[in-house]
Amino acid sequence: MGLLNPLLLLIPFAIRPVIATPVSSGANITRSFSLSPPRSPRPEKQVHDADYHSFSIEFCYMADYAGNDTHPNTFSRQVIQNLKDIAGKPPLFRVGGSTQNSAVYYPDQSEAIIAPFSSAAATQPGHSYIGPAFMQSFNQFPEGSKYIYGLNFFNPANETLFSVGDGLAQCVLEANAAYNAIGDALYGFEIGNEVDGWPGGSRRSANYTLQDYVDQWNDYAKAISQNLTGSDSMQIFQGCAFEAPRSVASSAWNVANAEADGMKSNMAKAVADHEYMGANCHYTGVGPTIETSIFDRTNMLSRVWYHDYLGNATVDSGIPYVLGETNSISCQGAANISDVMAATVWAVDYVLYLSSLRVERVHFHMGTRYAYRSWLPVSFNDTNPQVFPIYYAALFNAHVFAGGHKQTEVLVNGSDFGAYAVYGSGKLESIVAANLVMWNSTSEQKARPYTVLELPSGWESAKVLRLTSPGVEIANNITLAGQSVNEAGVVVGDKTHEKAQGRKVLVGAGEAVLVQK
Ligand SMILES: *[C@@H]1O[C@H](CO)[C@@H](O)[C@H](O)[C@H]1NC(C)=O
Ligand SMILES: *[C@@H]1O[C@H](CO)[C@@H](O)[C@H](O)[C@H]1NC(C)=O
Ligand SMILES: *[C@@H]1O[C@H](CO)[C@@H](O)[C@H](O)[C@H]1NC(C)=O
Ligand SMILES: *[C@@H]1O[C@H](CO)[C@@H](O)[C@H](O)[C@H]1NC(C)=O
Ligand SMILES: *[C@@H]1O[C@H](CO)[C@@H](O)[C@H](O)[C@H]1NC(C)=O
Ligand SMILES: *[C@@H]1O[C@H](CO)[C@@H](O)[C@H](O)[C@H]1NC(C)=O
Ligand SMILES: *[C@@H]1O[C@H](CO)[C@@H](O)[C@H](O)[C@H]1NC(C)=O
Ligand SMILES: *[C@@H]1O[C@H](CO)[C@@H](O)[C@H](O)[C@H]1NC(C)=O
Ligand SMILES: *[C@@H]1O[C@H](CO)[C@@H](O)[C@H](O)[C@H]1NC(C)=O
Ligand SMILES: *[C@@H]1O[C@H](CO)[C@@H](O)[C@H](O)[C@H]1NC(C)=O
Ligand SMILES: *[C@@H]1O[C@H](CO)[C@@H](O)[C@H](O)[C@H]1NC(C)=O
Repeated sequence: MGLLNPLLLLIPFAIRPVIATPVSSGANITRSFSLSPPRSPRPEKQVHDADYHSFSIEFCYMADYAGNDTHPNTFSRQVIQNLKDIAGKPPLFRVGGSTQNSAVYYPDQSEAIIAPFSSAAATQPGHSYIGPAFMQSFNQFPEGSKYIYGLNFFNPANETLFSVGDGLAQCVLEANAAYNAIGDALYGFEIGNEVDGWPGGSRRSANYTLQDYVDQWNDYAKAISQNLTGSDSMQIFQGCAFEAPRSVASSAWNVANAEADGMKSNMAKAVADHEYMGANCHYTGVGPTIETSIFDRTNMLSRVWYHDYLGNATVDSGIPYVLGETNSISCQGAANISDVMAATVWAVDYVLYLSSLRVERVHFHMGTRYAYRSWLPVSFNDTNPQVFPIYYAALFNAHVFAGGHKQTEVLVNGSDFGAYAVYGSGKLESIVAANLVMWNSTSEQKARPYTVLELPSGWESAKVLRLTSPGVEIANNITLAGQSVNEAGVVVGDKTHEKAQGRKVLVGAGEAVLVQK
């Protein structure tokens, strides 16, 4: 670790809990759900750690997010520290994405990264040339932070892209530099990003198959293992990192078929897939809206079905299945969907639903120039470093998974409402509910529709943490338990919780609640 972040000294030691006035009895109640959570979760339910809601940083933006030894990014440190303070453990950072595929390591380069953008509007550079100083970024986040490093995956011989030549040697060279510089903070490596989309492009021939990929992945992983420790197989790789799965056919590029083709637990520490709720590119006609993408649970569930299936299909291999890169809308997000309160409420519901499946962890992707970033780490385009609405979902979920040993069961699975039971070490501990009914800040606040949760007996004095804002279409005025995050990234305001009244809790349109027994 480098210098102590002076902002940390400003965090009050104990935040005084304040009991807030419950939502008034004049609320517009439109429906109710009577909840009967099972006393214990089903035995097959996966047990999750405190870092369930984790992050993925686009490779070329790592220096922005983390800084370096002389200039650590203190804003990022603060917002990660907030999460660590709540959960007891920092999130896990996967550093990768399509720019890892265009990164080349030069041992003699003095600059950390040379990554030119073609225009002010471009969201990714054409290439990222990195040197040894790039690795300093992987030592800046709060103590205990770990990283998954996304390696390049050029052709093993005669690679013409960036005149790499011997792509296998380049991959080993990069892995060796990362391994030695990052040390114990290195959780693992990925080799290539979304390679399932490569056949027929500039990186692999059209006849490149899943079997070819698995064979090549094994060759690269073996060469890295031999280089780093002299052994033939280190269990240090997160395999696949494929695009969102859309087929379970036996010929499809997916994690289950990759394992069948020879990706084994001797080297695969985990396998990962990616997912988004819609796309901000390659569509014709009307683009995605809040209502048709993130606030449509039928849409969300139809995409998540593949992760349910693939988590099941790979469980016997013993290789954990991870959602290694995800967010609201692909192609770096969509303004007024990805960067407003709607994304926050969606992310709470989405993460809780995934946690009920055989999905080990969820990594929310971000980049300096991306609309779906959880926070902006450096000033860009006249915008100062700040958290974005979806960061509040990370704070909320840090409360849900705090301390780890959590399992979840789905209680309500409607087209616009999700509720979940959360178990800690096998005991029923809390209930989470997310109300995905549209609610705009421009509507008359007293008309806001509320859903009643009827809690089981024994929950008479339950404590309610509320995630709310004036409307889902805006980014401002979001509070979690009465608190917000200021321009320095510090959680401010009195922490308030409500008490359930007569075993009832109200959840407004566009809100989420965490009810603790
Ligand atoms: C560290 O970051 C600062 C600020 O971005 C930069 O000026 C400096 O060159 C960096 N140091 C290295 C070794 O890259
Ligand atoms: C940055 O601002 C410029 C000027 O307003 C704009 O054209 C560009 O699209 C912005 N870039 C991004 C990545 O949003
Ligand atoms: C690489 O190129 C050299 C010279 O052009 C050629 O001799 C060799 O066979 C090529 N190797 C592969 C694997 O294509
Ligand atoms: C590992 O790779 C690095 C970088 O290519 C090289 O310098 C080193 O000699 C290799 N070590 C072994 C044991 O092969
Ligand atoms: C795949 O395509 C490449 C070039 O397009 C060709 O050289 C190679 O022979 C093909 N491989 C097979 C197995 O058909
Ligand atoms: C996954 O397995 C669980 C039982 O462990 C089952 O309830 C669920 O339906 C399965 N999902 C799919 C998509 O097959
Ligand atoms: C987002 O919403 C704001 C406020 O309504 C509007 O000014 C802006 O044009 C919208 N941006 C896009 C890309 O739709
Ligand atoms: C939730 O609903 C979806 C879609 O209707 C369905 O596929 C899924 O199995 C349901 N999940 C549970 C836990 O009932
Ligand atoms: C709410 O805001 C969204 C996004 O700006 C807009 O598309 C929608 O029409 C609005 N709905 C109402 C009822 O105002
Ligand atoms: C209550 O909410 C419903 C659903 O949005 C709405 O139709 C109704 O007008 C609201 N009622 C009042 C009294 O505001
Ligand atoms: C919402 O936030 C803005 C500043 O972002 C502030 O000026 C305004 O008073 C807030 N409104 C409410 C209702 O809290």
